[in-house]
Amino acid sequence: MSTVVNPGNAMSDPMVPDPTASDPMVSDPSVSDAAASEPGGPEAAVPEPAAADHTGATAIRQALAERFGEELKIDGALPGLAALARIAGHRSHRRFLPRPIEPDLLRLLCACALSAPSKSDLQQADIVIVRETAIRQAIVDTIPEMPWIMDAPVFLVFVGNGGRLPMMSKRRDKPFPNDHLDAFFNAAVDGAIVMTTFIHAATAIGLGTCPISAIRDYPQIVAKALNLPPRTVPIAGLCVGWPEQAGEITPRLSLSTTVIENHYGQRDVIGEIEAYDRRRAALRPYRRQRRIERWGEASFYGWSQDKARQYAEPTRTDFGAFVLEQGFRLD
Ligand SMILES: Cc1cc2nc3c(=O)[nH]c(=O)nc-3n(C[C@H](O)[C@H](O)[C@H](O)COP(=O)(O)O)c2cc1C
Repeated sequence: MSTVVNPGNAMSDPMVPDPTASDPMVSDPSVSDAAASEPGGPEAAVPEPAAADHTGATAIRQALAERFGEELKIDGALPGLAALARIAGHRSHRRFLPRPIEPDLLRLLCACALSAPSKSDLQQADIVIVRETAIRQAIVDTIPEMPWIMDAPVFLVFVGNGGRLPMMSKRRDKPFPNDHLDAFFNAAVDGAIVMTTFIHAATAIGLGTCPISAIRDYPQIVAKALNLPPRTVPIAGLCVGWPEQAGEITPRLSLSTTVIENHYGQRDVIGEIEAYDRRRAALRPYRRQRRIERWGEASFYGWSQDKARQYAEPTRTDFGAFVLEQGFRLD
């Protein structure tokens, strides 16, 4: 059995929820395919008002109102409302049924994920399917505060792979003058896009997922366990399984904070964040305060307080050094 590397580190995750807390949301706001049929055939190109998908539109409106505190106008005749409802109703899942995922299904989801757009068609993302228990255990041992990693039927690691490009340059006898930060960034972005696409594909068939960036707390251990080649970087792990619970919508910053018209202007960002703190606390208050022993108990504990406390602890301070060791350049 491997050693637990960081028994006290509960700060890795942007939000470590209390997995023992009951789930107040019992019905899934993402509509079923039957409830939100997608007008798609030629006859449905201009749907009659009677065919309008009010169920899908309602589900999306409700999910986004909970998420952003804003009632959006949604045309019930839009095609693709079922897909939109799944995206709008997104939630991470950390509890899974003991039901396996068939290898063919997993391969299908990987293929869909890797169909995502890719910077310059460079195709710099890989997916590692961690099937061997010993390999998963080596990774999990570095993150003891997240037991759902071991419980998930499938555990994947999404990798940014910047290694093939210089290999091709060498093979084709060409110079490679673009060995700088952008090469790392491109591979990381491709990996993140592929992971996101995997999440959407998995959600479409009813699977639940939870990304795990905590695997980057001890990247050398992950690199060793996965035998990562040069110029590759683990972006995040992903737990995948059939969800045990419907899960909950996490409110986000208001759209007026994060959707910018044309250019950034003068604004009261702190005021907007504090308004979000209050909206979020009314819907989903934190169940625990972080590091009370260091910061005391706050009378009002909102998102900004939680994130400020989370980032008051140093984490991944050696990640840059790891990226350099992997052969990327950061200048
Ligand atoms: C890149 C990335 C890394 C994440 N890492 C972790 C993690 O290490 N552990 C975890 O439990 N959740 C992790 N999450 C899930 C976030 O905590 C979650 O997305 C966030 O709290 C919002 O909740 P929601 O996804 O249900 O909307 C990660 C999410 C992303 C996108």
